[in-house]
Amino acid sequence: MADIWYTLLSWSWKLFFMLSLHSATGIKLNRWDSVIQLPTESVDADTDGVGTRWAVLVAGSSGYGNYRHQADVCHAYQLLIKGGLKEENIVVFMYDDIAMNEMNPRLGVIINHPHGPDVYAGVPKDYTGENVTTENLYGVILGDKNKVKGGSGKVINSKPEDRIFIYYSDHGGPGVLGMPNMPYLYAMDFIEVLKKKHASGGYKEMVIYVEACESGSVFEGIMPKNLNVYVTTASNAQESSWGTYCPGMEPSPPSEYITCLGDLYSVAWMEDSETHNLRKETVKQQYQSVKLRTSNFNNYASGSHVMEYGDTHITAEKLYLYQGFDPATVNFPPNNDRLEAQMEVVNQRDAEIFFMWQMYKRSDNQQEKKTDILKQITETVKHRNHLDGSVELIGVLLFGPGKSSSVLESIRVPGLPLVDDWACLKSMVRVFETHCGSLTQYGMKHMRAFANICNNGISKASMEEACMAACDGYDAGLLHPSNKGYSA
Ligand SMILES: *[C@@H]1O[C@H](CO)[C@@H](O)[C@H](O)[C@H]1NC(C)=O
Repeated sequence: MADIWYTLLSWSWKLFFMLSLHSATGIKLNRWDSVIQLPTESVDADTDGVGTRWAVLVAGSSGYGNYRHQADVCHAYQLLIKGGLKEENIVVFMYDDIAMNEMNPRLGVIINHPHGPDVYAGVPKDYTGENVTTENLYGVILGDKNKVKGGSGKVINSKPEDRIFIYYSDHGGPGVLGMPNMPYLYAMDFIEVLKKKHASGGYKEMVIYVEACESGSVFEGIMPKNLNVYVTTASNAQESSWGTYCPGMEPSPPSEYITCLGDLYSVAWMEDSETHNLRKETVKQQYQSVKLRTSNFNNYASGSHVMEYGDTHITAEKLYLYQGFDPATVNFPPNNDRLEAQMEVVNQRDAEIFFMWQMYKRSDNQQEKKTDILKQITETVKHRNHLDGSVELIGVLLFGPGKSSSVLESIRVPGLPLVDDWACLKSMVRVFETHCGSLTQYGMKHMRAFANICNNGISKASMEEACMAACDGYDAGLLHPSNKGYSA
């Protein structure tokens, strides 16, 4: 029975591929041709008096092993452009080390779906490389050119009647989102930026989509409901989010790819947008279908809980107000009516090792390269063990062996923020990194431990002593925060 079900699912998945491939290549679908086109459908998306649509797209990682985050963001750019948003109103943050990467089998091309088109062509290089920073992101959102260093200088110069869409994809951890250049984005700082933008009357409404591990924790307990901002996140405050379209998994990328092409929540919202009429589909309908697909159809061993925060009144609105409207979708249905199959996925944090392993396996007959990659894998694992071990030891020193893990891993009830004193959290991380080395994208998972150290009233001086005891004997040469070698 299970086998039959699986066959059916994989069939419907293939059908969906064919459909989405068709829509991606602009071939008209027959399926919804019978739907009658109403006169109002021909209204141009830009002349409907809704103010200007703005967007900020952020890929927070770098490195070929993180291909998927920049692929997500490029895809989102194409989707918004098709929807009629203007390049001048979309600000893109991406490291831009993927398309021309020597490991990219299709030089100059980025895809976000196994059969998908190139999503890289035409994406503006607003903030790339060293200019992809948290401070620049804040400056851009606030429309404050003076706060922005480097890059194109493009900012969200929005007016009170305008709408803003923000989409972020990367690694994260409790209370933080990654950035390819230090420092990370801290939840409370981001919320302060939103408050400031709101206070300046800089928009009518805003929708924010965030894909990252523990992304719920960036908003849980601190996201106000009165900012006219609605947020959904790929995961709740204490779970991973997932990469997908990965080598050797179903659905898998073309065989020449050794890296994942997308992330589960991200492809879920974008593929949903591309197959529906966004003048009819509401924000809520998208939330519901993305929630179902990101849960991998209620299979939380390889899926996550999509969460919503902020002003949920916005969910009654139609998506085109944020993502625009592609005339080619006019006969598409307003909400989910297609069958989808489960997708195989990889935990965001395992994706790095998984990627190196793919490289290793494909380097047959190149002994030197194999040895190199294996060394890279063991060093990454060693550093991970070092981070895990030091945090554990610091907990033992601060709270005693009996209580340590229950204190460090303690999860607060829903509705309470991760930490009461966000400045304390930052300073604990700084102390830790000084003695124990860079947290890296993997180590962001320990943010909860640092938060709990703060929540238990540990002083900075005690933390300093514990970090010295736990880490000062360790050769931190490779692990200093300024060494970016590990944050692949
Ligand atoms: C960062 O911005 C500056 C100023 O626009 C520019 O000269 C530099 O090339 C940018 N760096 C990258 C890596 O794009």
